[in-house]
Amino acid sequence: MKRLYSLFLLFTLISTSLIADEGMWLPSLIKDKIADMQKNGFKLTAEDIYSINQASLKDAIVQFGGGCTGELISDNGLLITNHHCGFGQIQEHSSVEHDYLKDGFWAMSLNEELPNKGLSVKFLVRMEDVTDKILSGYKQGMTENERAEIVKANSASVIAAAKQNNNYEARVEALYYGNQYFLFVYETYTDVRLVGAPPSSIGKFGGDTDNWMWPRHTGDFSIFRIYAGKDNKPAAYSKENIPYKPKKFFSISLNGVKEGDFTLVYGYPGRTQEYLMSDAVKYIAGISNPNKINLRTMRLDIQKEEMSKSAEIRIKYASKNASVANSWKKWQGEAKGIVRLNTVNDKIEFEKAFSVWAKDKPEYSNLINEISAIYKKLEPFAFVNDYQSEAINANEIIKFAGTVYSAALKNSKMSPEISAENISAIMEDFYKDYYMPIDKKSFVAIVGEYYKNVPAKYQPKYFTDKMSEYKTVDSFATYIFDNSIFSSKEKALRFVSDGVTPGKFDNDPAVVMYKEFNDYFTNSVKPVYDGLNNNLNLLYRTYMRGQMEFRKDKTFYPDANSTLRITYGKVKGYVPLDGVYFKHSSTLEGIMQKDNPQIYDYNIPQKLRDLYAGKDFGRWAVNGTVPVCFIATNHTSGGNSGSPVLNGKGELIGLNFDRVWEGTMSDVAYDPDMCRNISLDIRYVLFVIDKLAGAQRLIDEMKLVK
Ligand code: ARG
Ligand code: ASP
Repeated sequence: MKRLYSLFLLFTLISTSLIADEGMWLPSLIKDKIADMQKNGFKLTAEDIYSINQASLKDAIVQFGGGCTGELISDNGLLITNHHCGFGQIQEHSSVEHDYLKDGFWAMSLNEELPNKGLSVKFLVRMEDVTDKILSGYKQGMTENERAEIVKANSASVIAAAKQNNNYEARVEALYYGNQYFLFVYETYTDVRLVGAPPSSIGKFGGDTDNWMWPRHTGDFSIFRIYAGKDNKPAAYSKENIPYKPKKFFSISLNGVKEGDFTLVYGYPGRTQEYLMSDAVKYIAGISNPNKINLRTMRLDIQKEEMSKSAEIRIKYASKNASVANSWKKWQGEAKGIVRLNTVNDKIEFEKAFSVWAKDKPEYSNLINEISAIYKKLEPFAFVNDYQSEAINANEIIKFAGTVYSAALKNSKMSPEISAENISAIMEDFYKDYYMPIDKKSFVAIVGEYYKNVPAKYQPKYFTDKMSEYKTVDSFATYIFDNSIFSSKEKALRFVSDGVTPGKFDNDPAVVMYKEFNDYFTNSVKPVYDGLNNNLNLLYRTYMRGQMEFRKDKTFYPDANSTLRITYGKVKGYVPLDGVYFKHSSTLEGIMQKDNPQIYDYNIPQKLRDLYAGKDFGRWAVNGTVPVCFIATNHTSGGNSGSPVLNGKGELIGLNFDRVWEGTMSDVAYDPDMCRNISLDIRYVLFVIDKLAGAQRLIDEMKLVK
């Protein structure tokens, strides 16, 4: 009876959690959701969202630089994304003399817009369900390897066909663990220039203290422009290029949001794992996250101390520090959220119910046990995998030595990527943002953790030998840093000044360390780790299908995989703690409350203080202040940063940039009560561009609607 009761409870729990907010939907299949969207306040049609016959909203959206989203806001190629998405570029153009991180940057004419090496944006041309083509030739009972071969060969021909007579890029992606395959065709523009960025004291206001938290007051935006050849097609950077004419760009609504309003986020979420088994979730929250957090805490403490000593070091490490801190903090929120939401136990209950249902279905009856058994074998290898990436490859000198070594001298054949001609440029690039004392101190700390925590049988012999020779990680580090050419720019440049020949780096201690750890990992850990993951993938494909059959009443959405998705929800506050209600929006008042010249993250520009004192908000004033951020129930993930946040009419009301602390577990388990995405109110963006930057020319390009 008790058991039945808890199963019943679980069912109601799951079905009530299937309200509109959860889910990341494929644009080409949005017609299945459109009725629900319209019921909730959306005024457009499925064709308006995604169409291959006419310009649609998707044509105004790009994947920005591989890890973020951006959108077009003028018919002259003007693009907006987050400050933290353009952070690398802003930093790249910064120096102690031109500190764009500190002072902001605004191009006052097209001529002043700055090109960015290596930055590109991708438009989705079309997407298509190609499951039948990809699985043609596959027969039930084939092994996972045989299946993979077939998928690979069929994908290659689907991709080749999609790329015929055009310059598109095409990819085939697996959805639902390979129960479905989709083709995605992209057009990539590579001349993308920096147009404007507020100072970090606005764009990164609150820094890593406020990151992943609400209430939030970060003006997290930066502005770029896409340039094209005379034919409006992608072209490599050239002075002759002209601003790109988009098929579609967003109108900007000045109406703002109120609680309960419909919102839609359209962008590129990176990776979610919503259908994991309890064993995996338990490992993430209990072991993997805590280990990775510990290693990063050490690095961050070291960086923080050194960065506080000089502006030069602060600029060098600004971007690295932000990215190390970002996942570090998220893992903490995620682990907490998983515990609070009771995800592991809920999953266990679900698995029990699934097994009862599957008892007489041979395909599924033993699935849970099989998956569980694989996880038991996988855990020690997953553990080593975490330490390899967070304690070995996280050493800058080792990673760079490895890059140079593998790119240049693999198979004692010179690779075209690194040559005598470009090696100094590659080195200049790396050392521009390198500060050896930070790297060395971190090395001592994290390699020390590796030594202490990774079971001896999973450590390379090279390392245990070195440790018996040098006794302490400290002396081992001194040996590496004193003897490797990679520990200083001068040594490195001198070393390559007489040319680069195959084998030249082979005996460098940093290269040797890279090779030894890497060979050990590749030969002794990775094959088992990958093999087990392959088995898991196969079983998850079946489990996914099983879950869909078991819960026919539920609409399943595919996990995020860096493909374009739509998520919709409502502007809504939440209750983070007993007795506390968090409102749905924040304003300039909160910035002034946090303002503190003594604290780097909260030291706003004097000009903002002056504007505030004079209540000089221009046409951006709302009830005597300026709106800054708002939260809603949209189901977003990493990669959704910079995504357009749209109102029911498809107009831009904000930029997505983060999630709230209590909801950071949404990549694993979505909780409608706690999961909120954080958006920057577009009216604050306009206020900053107009009143702070005086870049009226940009506002003149945009289409503002009331
Ligand atoms: N948490 C947001 C995301 O995952 C913003 C990160 C950038 N901000 C920062 N303070 N590190 O990307
Ligand atoms: N800040 C994240 C990003 O950069 C968004 C998120 O994880 O919510 O994509």
